[in-house]
Amino acid sequence: MVRAPRMLRKHGSLGMYSTVVVYIPNEPLTVHRLTNNRMMKKVIVITGVSRGLGQAMTSGFIKLGHTVLGCARSKASVEQLSNKFGSPHNFTALDIANEAQVKIWAEQLLSKYGTPDLLINNAAIINELAPLWEIPSEDFSNLIDINIKGVANVIRHFIPAMIEKGSGIIVNLSSGWGRSTAPQVSSYCASKWAIEGMTRSLAQELPQGMAAIPMSPGIIHTDMLEVCYGEDAASYTSIKDWQAKAVPFLLQLSPADNGMPLTVPV
Ligand SMILES: NC(=O)c1ccc[n+]([C@@H]2O[C@H](COP(=O)([O-])OP(=O)(O)OC[C@H]3O[C@@H](n4cnc5c(N)ncnc54)[C@H](OP(=O)(O)O)[C@@H]3O)[C@@H](O)[C@H]2O)c1
Repeated sequence: MVRAPRMLRKHGSLGMYSTVVVYIPNEPLTVHRLTNNRMMKKVIVITGVSRGLGQAMTSGFIKLGHTVLGCARSKASVEQLSNKFGSPHNFTALDIANEAQVKIWAEQLLSKYGTPDLLINNAAIINELAPLWEIPSEDFSNLIDINIKGVANVIRHFIPAMIEKGSGIIVNLSSGWGRSTAPQVSSYCASKWAIEGMTRSLAQELPQGMAAIPMSPGIIHTDMLEVCYGEDAASYTSIKDWQAKAVPFLLQLSPADNGMPLTVPV
């Protein structure tokens, strides 16, 4: 059950916005912007919501009263999310590498919900561990199609409406391996270095009032981490602990963060 947030105290003000610290029992303290003294409920688009960090962000944002519009390839998981959270949230089965599917998805969401306040490009895959020359070309292409071109597909079909409105924050999930390298994960590293460059370039193209941010989430025990670290993955940050830090961190991002490579403070 979602408990109503309780405003603790006025925290400060930023021009037309003011901010408050919000307390929900058993939840971390969060800072929200208010306009006209009303809590700003955000519309948040997230790719890759079927498990891992995408699912954690989804449930975390919904608990705080925000609306989540998500996608993933797994039809079964999308159906489960729809049954669990219902309206106004919206979950769609699609492959971000398929531009035609992304185009229809974006058109449907934009016409029903308007432009998102936060667009989080989270969906990605990692290669089976292998040196570069042993990664089959089909696997390499598939990873680039999802991790780079898939992100560009989503941006291509959401951003024009956001630019027209002149607001919205785009967060592209990067990685420690988008800023450093390791053996056996060359195609993944290549894709995340590309995300850093693509996002920072995008940041220079956006009008004032918007932001594009490459964000490293830290190292979290998800299915993806098990591909990299096997059983040792369990010794890293849990999804629940990450959610507690990441959700408020994402909600306080603003146009002032445009182009800044950020890391979730876990
Ligand atoms: N976990 C970490 O420690 C870590 C560290 C650094 C960066 N990251 C980044 O954080 C993000 C989330 O990682 P994670 O650990 O949560 O990964 P994960 O557990 O493997 O989850 C990935 C999600 O992306 C979805 N997805 C994959 N390909 C897709 C496609 N073509 N179309 C739509 N959805 C797709 C998956 O759902 P379906 O399979 O149902 O499509 C799943 O919901 C990724 O960008 C990852 O690179 C994670």
